[in-house]
Amino acid sequence: MPGSAPDPRFRLSPDLALALAEQYGTPLYVLSEAHLRARIREYLAAFRAVAPNSRLVFASKANSTLAVLKIAHQEGCLIDVASEGELRAALLAGVPASDCHLHGNYKTMPELAFAFAAGVGEIVVDSFAEIEAIAELATAETPPSSLVAEALGLPAEVQVRCPDLVIRVAPGVDPATHQKISTGQDDTKFGFNLSDGSAERALLRCLELKLPVIGFHCHVGSQLLDPEAQRAGGEAIAQFAAEMLRRHGFETRVLNVGGGLGVRYTDADNPMPIADYCRLVVEAMRAPLEGTGLDPTLMQEPGRSLVAEAGVTLYRVGVIKTVPTGEGRTRTYASVDGGLSDNPRPALYGSRYTVLRAARADGGEPVGGPAAKYTVAGRHCETDKLFVDVDLPADLAEGDLLQVLCTGAYNSSMASNYNRFLRPPTVMVREDGSLAPIQRRETYDELFAREILPSL
Ligand SMILES: Cc1ncc(COP(=O)(O)O)c(C=O)c1O
Repeated sequence: MPGSAPDPRFRLSPDLALALAEQYGTPLYVLSEAHLRARIREYLAAFRAVAPNSRLVFASKANSTLAVLKIAHQEGCLIDVASEGELRAALLAGVPASDCHLHGNYKTMPELAFAFAAGVGEIVVDSFAEIEAIAELATAETPPSSLVAEALGLPAEVQVRCPDLVIRVAPGVDPATHQKISTGQDDTKFGFNLSDGSAERALLRCLELKLPVIGFHCHVGSQLLDPEAQRAGGEAIAQFAAEMLRRHGFETRVLNVGGGLGVRYTDADNPMPIADYCRLVVEAMRAPLEGTGLDPTLMQEPGRSLVAEAGVTLYRVGVIKTVPTGEGRTRTYASVDGGLSDNPRPALYGSRYTVLRAARADGGEPVGGPAAKYTVAGRHCETDKLFVDVDLPADLAEGDLLQVLCTGAYNSSMASNYNRFLRPPTVMVREDGSLAPIQRRETYDELFAREILPSL
């Protein structure tokens, strides 16, 4: 961590770690309400300081537990949903559909119909086929189409308004991040390219069909520690908005530069402070609009940077094993009671994390003393190396608790049942210090609830 500022990431004290493990078992996701709320407030204040009429949209893919969605909305965020499931989660959390924005590179007709019928505030349009599908729903002679009515069990006479549309643009910028989370370059499945005129044709088609198109969106990538790609993306969509005014008289009312600001997984990660970042992207979006008379609502859509650092995962150490790796060298594996199924990011992107001993099985002081290199491994039948060559106390022992920092985003929301593991619970540490389970551990009954064994 550069400088002397205290590490802002949430972490557990030994007593709390022991109490949580005792009460809820491990592996366990733990989320700090105070941290999450403070982070959203910080982002909102920073954004509003440079763009008073701006809106922050929480990307729910980062963490779609209902409690997190409710907190994000309570704090003033709109909610980005990328599927009917995420939309249903927001609705269950009490978020009005009008505060939800629907994303996705291939939204199915039933999904669009559901979004129409629920009354989502905005659809971020991603393809020409989607424009035609939306037009079909919006102009159905006897609204709503049977699909819409069916989707929500509505009476067939109900009238359905077409949500506002924002066109997703691929601005042709290539961010410095893992290729699996890069989306702003020309070669992407997301949105309409600027370079080949697709974005302009998409706008013209929406106008021709008299669809309520209000602006443009881009999201260039995730875990961006260098903000240049987002700056360039913001500038590109603003330039495009200015051009569409000049060429077609189209008045942009919304410009959304997406999410992507990085977080501190390890001390090597040094994301730009939120205030500086907001100033940079807002200036980039404003400059091309100067003198045009356009004054759109500026939006950002962060996920990770709002919730990642508010969460930790607690594991219990099981088997510890030292193996030869050749030329007299060895590697020590510390296996924990979770792995790939509760955190697929190391396997997907080679992600690195900060791992600390949270508590000792024997109740002694968990930190201090000589360190040694460990490879923390999961229990799955892949190599499932979670955290390679991390420093942990040399006397690490079976039964000790490890906490992995910065797991509030893209962990519970990406969890799976690989190897028939049960997905872990999430416990929220409330602002008053009390503990509130917000998602309980999956049960074996739930694990097998979908199975149908035919007579074989
Ligand atoms: C369209 C869109 N918006 C927002 C986000 C959130 O990104 P992040 O969590 O990096 O802020 C993503 C992430 O994939 C995205 O695809």
